[in-house]
Amino acid sequence: MPAISLSPKQEQFIALSTARLNIASGAVRSGKTIASLLRWLMYIAQAPRRGGHLVIVGKTGETVARNVMEPLMDPSLTGPVAKRIFYTRGAATCNILGRRVEIISANDMRSESRLRGMTCGGAYVDEATLLPENFWDQLLARCSVAGAQIFATCNPDAPNHWLRQRFILRAHELDLKYFHFVLDDNPALDATYVANLKREYTGLWYKRFIEGLWVMAEGAVYDMWDPDRHIVDALPPMERWLGLGVDYGTTNPFNAILAGVSVPDRHGLRRIYFTHEWRWDSKVQRRQLTDAEYSKKLRDWLRTLPGTYGPGTYGVQPDWVVVDPSAASFIAQLHRDGFAPVMADNKVLDGIRTVSNLVGADRLRVHRSCEGWLTEIGSYAWDDKRAERGEDAPVKLDDHALDAGRYLLRTTEAAWQPLIELSN
Ligand SMILES: Nc1ncnc2c1ncn2[C@@H]1O[C@H](COP(=O)(O)OP(=O)(O)OP(=O)(O)O)[C@@H](O)[C@H]1O
Ligand SMILES: [Mg+2]
Repeated sequence: MPAISLSPKQEQFIALSTARLNIASGAVRSGKTIASLLRWLMYIAQAPRRGGHLVIVGKTGETVARNVMEPLMDPSLTGPVAKRIFYTRGAATCNILGRRVEIISANDMRSESRLRGMTCGGAYVDEATLLPENFWDQLLARCSVAGAQIFATCNPDAPNHWLRQRFILRAHELDLKYFHFVLDDNPALDATYVANLKREYTGLWYKRFIEGLWVMAEGAVYDMWDPDRHIVDALPPMERWLGLGVDYGTTNPFNAILAGVSVPDRHGLRRIYFTHEWRWDSKVQRRQLTDAEYSKKLRDWLRTLPGTYGPGTYGVQPDWVVVDPSAASFIAQLHRDGFAPVMADNKVLDGIRTVSNLVGADRLRVHRSCEGWLTEIGSYAWDDKRAERGEDAPVKLDDHALDAGRYLLRTTEAAWQPLIELSN
């Protein structure tokens, strides 16, 4: 049936996924989804009309469409079968080989309640670690038809993640088969692509997504940070003043960090630089500032910075002003004062990944004057206690400048990405 030749690991998955629960985990791009989708097609084709719904489950409708439906309907992967799959983006069901298949996403209450009422005869699960644990439990309870099988893929997460602790590690006592994929298990990846892929992941994510290991978030968050290499005393000229990131605080320190994108160096590479930092620590200053005072101080500070608009000029106008999303009143104040602030994307792990990748690729450098940021990064560590519970989170300590920088880089990613090629 497949239009492609499979790797031995993919064949193994297809031939040996005979348990009630079959989980493929491992490196990104290692061929898990394709192998398990081909298996799912075979399952659907052979699934006797034994009753029970067939379901495809994922984190969001969007991820199911992209990760599951797109490859299923790609004739270069599934051959002539692709023509026998009918699906409209966003629909709650699809038709595969003449069978109706329900599409259920974990982030949609209505869809979750549909699951509650169902009796299932088989399930395909995309990115199983990203589902809420009770959703997964619900799914298993629903797959109650005799002989029903579940095929799931995921990337490794924390070693104490519930999927590993309660299921994968208990494979011997449950009716469960676990398949571990590494990058080499995908025959379609060429060496340059793999080399680039390896450069795109750093730290924790390298271990999980490239090496495919269930490792704990422990030690330094930015373990790729190298002060000798990444701190600079002299700034190159900036091509663009990318933006100002702001972490708001009244009793806690207020932090603003300014970033520029440098002109290309002699190798044609641009970098992002944290060039200046402004910090107000009310405990040290013994005075709290109002929103209006903060806004004025920021404006005055930006005016005094040596500009790049010609020799002897002063003043920087950042393209973006990205602010702590919880600081609603301050954002309103900035609007009144003629700034055009945007609310920061505050997804902590995504932001940490963005910063890690930039640092790991040596595309982020920091001027020695950014003292708050440089102090905070030294003690920014993963939280052991939460890691033991299977959660990835940094210790909530001094992270104000780090947050300001993270907000800025994460939120303006689309603006700097075309200028900063991470994998060159
Ligand atoms: N046997 C194969 N022959 C040709 N192309 C393949 C094969 N297996 C996988 N691919 C292609 O390689 C890419 C990665 O495969 P797949 O999506 O299955 O990986 P994955 O392990 O699910 O990755 P992720 O963890 O990122 O979801 C896809 O573009 C897929 O079409
Ligand atoms: Mg996949």
